Amino acid sequence: VNNTPHIAIIMDGNGRWAKNKQKQRTFGHQKGAQNVRFVLKHCRKIGIKYLTLYAFSTENWTRPKLEVEFLLKLLEKYLKQELNLYIQNNIKFDTIGDISIFPKKLQNLIKTTKEKTYHCDGMTQVLALNYGAKDEIIRAIKKLKDKQNINEKIFAKFLDTKDLPDIDMLIRTGGEHRVSNFLLWQISYAEIFFSDTMWPDFTTSELDDMITKFKEKHRRYGGD
Ligand code: FPP
Repeated sequence: VNNTPHIAIIMDGNGRWAKNKQKQRTFGHQKGAQNVRFVLKHCRKIGIKYLTLYAFSTENWTRPKLEVEFLLKLLEKYLKQELNLYIQNNIKFDTIGDISIFPKKLQNLIKTTKEKTYHCDGMTQVLALNYGAKDEIIRAIKKLKDKQNINEKIFAKFLDTKDLPDIDMLIRTGGEHRVSNFLLWQISYAEIFFSDTMWPDFTTSELDDMITKFKEKHRRYGGD
């Protein structure tokens, strides 16, 4: 039984963080990727079992071509660089989203990272890649054969998150109060936390404060 929260994070604010420093947006993404490492290590240390991060959305393709290319390159670099971190810390790497339109080389890298960490059972870290909740739901519907006997439990088995528990805490950094097509099904009962901190500056102590607040809440799931 897992009694630590499944945390999902919308890591927003990289671009504005960089702009505030008179730097390119891509510099913000670089710092953002570094912060992924810190936050991941911290979550592992405090015993979080599931951490799901929004790294690339189905809408992100509309960004300037150079920024999209940079984000994909950064992802490639991240996976190569951090494989050992995952293995050494017993963290399983997984993804949600439709990666079939990524460059073949990147798809293979994602696949081998999953395979090489498949045995790790200390924690699961999920990256949302070319992920959009509406796209996920449509893809699930296309997989359905027996539509008559569908119920919530069965439907969930067709989502990308079929092997994951629902989200307990949804965090969005960067000051906006939006869900932006992230995990719409899976956040039905999530507690939502917003932070004005831009993602590259988001600290583990801010995360700890949110977890403390989360644990103080009495979750009623619509009941008493
Ligand atoms: C939002 O910043 C961030 C993203 C587009 C996705 C998150 C990407 C990272 C944290 C870096 C890559 C991660 C990995 C794991 C390699 P924004 O550009 O929307 O910021 P803005 O709202 O200030 O423009």
